[in-house]
Amino acid sequence: MCGIVGAVAARQVSGILLEGLRRLEYRGYDSAGMAVIDQGQIGRVRRVGKVQSLAEALAKHPLTGTLGIAHTRWATHGVPNEVNAHPHMSGERLAVVHNGIIENFESLRDELIGAGYTFSSETDTEVVAHLLDREVSAGKSLREAMRAVIQYLEGAFALGVVHADYPDQLVTARKGSPLVIGVGIGEHFIASDQLALLPVTDRFMFLEDGDIACLTPDSVEVEDGSGQSVDRAVTRFEHGAGSAEKGAFKHFMLKEIYEQPAVMASVMEGRISDGHLLEQAFGVEAKALFDRVRQVQIVACGTSYHAGMIAKYWIEELVGIPCMVEVASEFRYRPVVLPEGTLFLTLSQSGETADTLAALREIRSRVIGTLAICNVPGSSLVRESDLALMTNAGPEIGVASTKAFTSQLVALMLTTLALGRRFGLSDTREREILAAFAQLPALLERLLALDPEIEQMAAQFAEKHNALFLGRGTLFPVALEGALKLKEISYIHAEAYPAGELKHGPLALVDKDMPVVTVAPTNAMLEKLKANMQEVRARGGELFVFAGQDQSLRDEPGINLIRLPSIPIILEPIAYTLPLQLLSYHVAVLKGTDVDQPRNLAKSVTVE
Ligand code: F6R
Repeated sequence: MCGIVGAVAARQVSGILLEGLRRLEYRGYDSAGMAVIDQGQIGRVRRVGKVQSLAEALAKHPLTGTLGIAHTRWATHGVPNEVNAHPHMSGERLAVVHNGIIENFESLRDELIGAGYTFSSETDTEVVAHLLDREVSAGKSLREAMRAVIQYLEGAFALGVVHADYPDQLVTARKGSPLVIGVGIGEHFIASDQLALLPVTDRFMFLEDGDIACLTPDSVEVEDGSGQSVDRAVTRFEHGAGSAEKGAFKHFMLKEIYEQPAVMASVMEGRISDGHLLEQAFGVEAKALFDRVRQVQIVACGTSYHAGMIAKYWIEELVGIPCMVEVASEFRYRPVVLPEGTLFLTLSQSGETADTLAALREIRSRVIGTLAICNVPGSSLVRESDLALMTNAGPEIGVASTKAFTSQLVALMLTTLALGRRFGLSDTREREILAAFAQLPALLERLLALDPEIEQMAAQFAEKHNALFLGRGTLFPVALEGALKLKEISYIHAEAYPAGELKHGPLALVDKDMPVVTVAPTNAMLEKLKANMQEVRARGGELFVFAGQDQSLRDEPGINLIRLPSIPIILEPIAYTLPLQLLSYHVAVLKGTDVDQPRNLAKSVTVE
């Protein structure tokens, strides 16, 4: 994921920009660069590799000046090299940094070449630099040029632009990619993440999609998408949000559960434009690889494996190609048969899980390509895979995985859509699904409001020694995940079954001491599930039901029911996970276990 920092001040800015880039390193990148305006000239330094390489280059060739932009690049168009690193320039007087993807860059590039521009990089960003130059050369101000240029751009972007003729103006715009303005005294900043600017300010203004802003040391002027001047509120940074600190929460796990609405937005940010997926987000080689995929093999461990199981339902339904899912510790040690055209997809929060990595290394030469869905940029899995899609969930500290799981599911749906396009999934269906996913942050906020009710329900588990979890369809892996959470942190023995399997064995366990947690949304499987619930009631089992809007399911003796709001079917696995996370959390708190560091478990399992 690329990172942007920019500053316009009365003091030297290169140190501020460099520190900002360091603070964005957690996002993962492959090159870094900086441009600063000094005495009417732009100085630029770029390096492949770490921000430290850029710092060493700057130590030899310092950039002085009070206006500048800087960037860490994660390659999407063109390989990671110095020429493709940002900032990109048009001529000697204009420099641009960009996050996101310009989808129509090829036609824009042809047009600009026709108009006499020469391109030095393979990036989509360079078209923005030349388009801006064309407008400025035609007599527009830098800000007017930005207004004109963003009308041409299709895709997602956050932009920062400087021009040698405007030595005290930093012009910025955003659509679909995050960008924040840092408000100082006699200085202003931009960044793709407020964390980058914390050494210089704690006051931030968040731009909305389509906004343009012009920053000088003393002013910030914002225009909305229609060109109207608007005020955007200035807010103070809430310490602890999104960082490795608990803030007001009692445990990291609870904080991470509550972060999920924001995380849902962050997985999608910069990857969706005008209601459709920007598949370049998967990396430079994505298109060529996806075109050849005929089936998918998913390999992962634990919670990540459960996410993979849900993806199997999605891929086989929406793409219509086979999808196999297996735990890494089994996969790596057996002679697997993989048909031609297999995409090998690993899922991992940490990117360092020994079994998953070993499976990747073992299979790499026998598949057409490898894709890692991962939360840690720069991790081994990301480095060693052909493509990577980061889940952008922020650091997950609680050993029991929560936000990493739901963010993996969003990333898996993006993967499903990228593949689905190649197998007849209509544009309309893709838009419908993405419109549903766009509701996730608000929906998860509503589900969090059920927390007090779930906490009350948890009291009935504290004295139990066993629990069963039931679900059907995509809710079966959700039940597995619910059972895993409960056993991990409360040490209650819990198992999950596809509800139809109940009478094939586990029903023998059901009696009045066996709580049976059921995830029962109102979907095509509900009637079947209700029959399974009857089987439990008939044996005196106590049901704990997370239900949808179906009114025939009611709270009554033997049935403890929590009703969820109406949820689009495609979102059910994500939505129904959240109450199960809260249930385990509250049971564990009641039992007084070490919620964030349960016994015998480690956050990153780097040994087999
Ligand atoms: C459970 C949990 C583990 C991990 C598993 C794989 O809450 O966190 O089951 O999911 O150890 O770890 P990653 O995803 O880092 O590969």
